[in-house]
Amino acid sequence: MDFITETKRRRTFAIISHPDAGKTTITEKILFQGGAIREAGEVKGKAGKKAATSDWMTMEKERGVSVTSSVMQFDFQGLRINLLDTPGHKDFGEDTYRTLIAADSAAMLIDAAKGVEKQTRKLYEVCKLRKMPIFTFANKMDREGKEALEIVDDVESTLGMKCFPVTWPIGMGDLFAGLYHRMENKVYHYHKGKEEPEIIDVTDWKDEKIKGLCREDFIYDKFLEEMELLEIALDPFDEQLFLQGKISPMSFGSAKFNWGVDLFLKLFAQYSPQPLARKTRDEELVSPETKKFSGFVFKIQANMDRKHRDRVAFVRVCSGQFERGMKVYHVRLKRDLRLSYATQFMAQDRETVEHAFPGDIVGVTDTGNFQIGDTITGGGKFMYPDMPRFSPEVFAKLNIKDPLKRKQMQKAVLQLGEEGTVQIFSDPFVGLQDPIVGVVGELQFDVLLYRLNDEYGLDVKLEKLPFSVARWVSTKDETDVGKTINGGTLYSDITEKPVVLLNREWDLRWLEKENPNLEFKMTAGL
Ligand code: G4P
Repeated sequence: MDFITETKRRRTFAIISHPDAGKTTITEKILFQGGAIREAGEVKGKAGKKAATSDWMTMEKERGVSVTSSVMQFDFQGLRINLLDTPGHKDFGEDTYRTLIAADSAAMLIDAAKGVEKQTRKLYEVCKLRKMPIFTFANKMDREGKEALEIVDDVESTLGMKCFPVTWPIGMGDLFAGLYHRMENKVYHYHKGKEEPEIIDVTDWKDEKIKGLCREDFIYDKFLEEMELLEIALDPFDEQLFLQGKISPMSFGSAKFNWGVDLFLKLFAQYSPQPLARKTRDEELVSPETKKFSGFVFKIQANMDRKHRDRVAFVRVCSGQFERGMKVYHVRLKRDLRLSYATQFMAQDRETVEHAFPGDIVGVTDTGNFQIGDTITGGGKFMYPDMPRFSPEVFAKLNIKDPLKRKQMQKAVLQLGEEGTVQIFSDPFVGLQDPIVGVVGELQFDVLLYRLNDEYGLDVKLEKLPFSVARWVSTKDETDVGKTINGGTLYSDITEKPVVLLNREWDLRWLEKENPNLEFKMTAGL
């Protein structure tokens, strides 16, 4: 196994979409096309059985949602692709955001009838902050939806990212006749109930053969009209702009009927970037092809086995080759760790991994050494950037019924904060005595209360707070934020960075106006 060859063929991406856009459906189809070889995080198989029966998982089952993200690995056209799943439930948490940090590109799935929806927009913002390359797939073309041009316009105006349609639909809903592939000069003629398309060579979009595929003349006329507009409006595809996340190769189809999914995958295989060089906290670039191992923890899944309180730390390999049993340097703890039997690849059967390469995700059993954002290396003392924290949208104070257990609650909440279950803020007057917790989705609160009770035996009640916005505050020069801020109360986060917690977006605009010398950021650490 040649290290450079293996590294170059890795691709790591995540799908971003709003619930119900069809992510589960397209994932299945993609895995099928790729003859999926591995699936992870779903905690199946021997070792996973224990976890699946744990109460933690019971809660997931009862709620019918996946609280955890998973990693799926498959081969396609000689590439080894890691697909990082992001929970699509409306109550998704920060986990979803962090998963994007571990990916090198993203595929944005849009319901063609609905256009760009709220959650997609939020996830897109994270991709944009990271300047991540994004592919777009407009799904559900088997139904009547928005016009294709309207979808392009929606993406461009809502997200401010240009689209480069690679395929173009000929009709939609019951009159859908197929996809014209602009780069290949081919028409993929699909029928309902038939997954394999008839592939027709054409001279270009004006080819009369296309007319014969349309059941109604107006479908063909519309196609011609749209193509004419596209040809005038579109600049040639600029790969550099794509790699900076400024233009998105776009394709259309139906995940349900398996229309265009193969074309999407081919497009992905052609343009998706191999593992990218990652910057360290000191702004040094670490090339994935560097022989020395390095990686960072982007997710911790706790309570896989309650008896042992074990947790799994998900490590994104950034450089060098990972070997089972290897000794690594834990940069924050400043000590070596041996990842002996502890190391498992989160695969179909949580199968033990022998080797992993840049771009891969490795699940490491953790007995409490890891925090989200930790760097492990083959000796290097550098650290990858701290995992960004994103503005929570729901806030609460915790009340413990038994006052004697208050200290214990603080400790437990801090631990869960380190794991990334919730974000913790302290009030300038009471400190962490009465911690304020913030989450992106309400479901994270349920998880928090459940775990405080189940793992720590604490009976805690939530007192909702009116905040809905957090912003990390910094001065443009180096002066002290506390002395400068005009209006607004400063809280601090778990790393003691100053934060304002506000009830509404409107309050933020007011504060920004009052404090032109301050910056209010929606993330910490990006
Ligand atoms: P999600 O993971 O993004 O939440 O979406 P999921 O794949 O679960 O799909 C949500 C619903 O949309 C499902 O319908 C699914 O069948 C449907 N769907 C997905 N892709 C397409 C498509 O290309 N065309 C059409 N017409 N429908 C699509 P459901 O009624 O909730 O479930 P089911 O009974 O169909 O499985």
